[in-house]
Amino acid sequence: MKKIFLIAVFSAFLSANIYAACSQDLVVNDTLYYDIKEITIDPSCKEFTINMKHTGKAVKAAIGHNWVLAQKADMQSIITEGMKQGLKNDYLNKKNPKVLAASKMIGGGEKTSVKFSLSKLKKGTDYMYFCTFPGHLTMRGTIIYK
Ligand code: CO
Repeated sequence: MKKIFLIAVFSAFLSANIYAACSQDLVVNDTLYYDIKEITIDPSCKEFTINMKHTGKAVKAAIGHNWVLAQKADMQSIITEGMKQGLKNDYLNKKNPKVLAASKMIGGGEKTSVKFSLSKLKKGTDYMYFCTFPGHLTMRGTIIYK
């Protein structure tokens, strides 16, 4: 009985600490979708990394994609403000404190990574990730953080 308990504790330790994947790979292409619609962030992670690859052929100016993290409630205002920033600023005001993390905008054949601290995230708040390229309304994903 004691042995089983110890194995259970050890397994929990392994899954919580050693096997917590504190990163997520994403693939985008010439369509307006991320290949993953939901990303789970393990609360035991201190920081999290997104690695995104654009496997399409379109240049950034035509079908560019980025990965931006914000509270769900702030998403629309960030996108609206971003449109005014133009392609040279990746259609994003990176100084807006509501932007919790943001990759650069990439085109076909490019890849990017963004690492961010989880100290800004609170459990129980709704977070989304999205692309701020104008019109990329279907590029939305949900963050699971609890
Ligand atoms: Co996009």
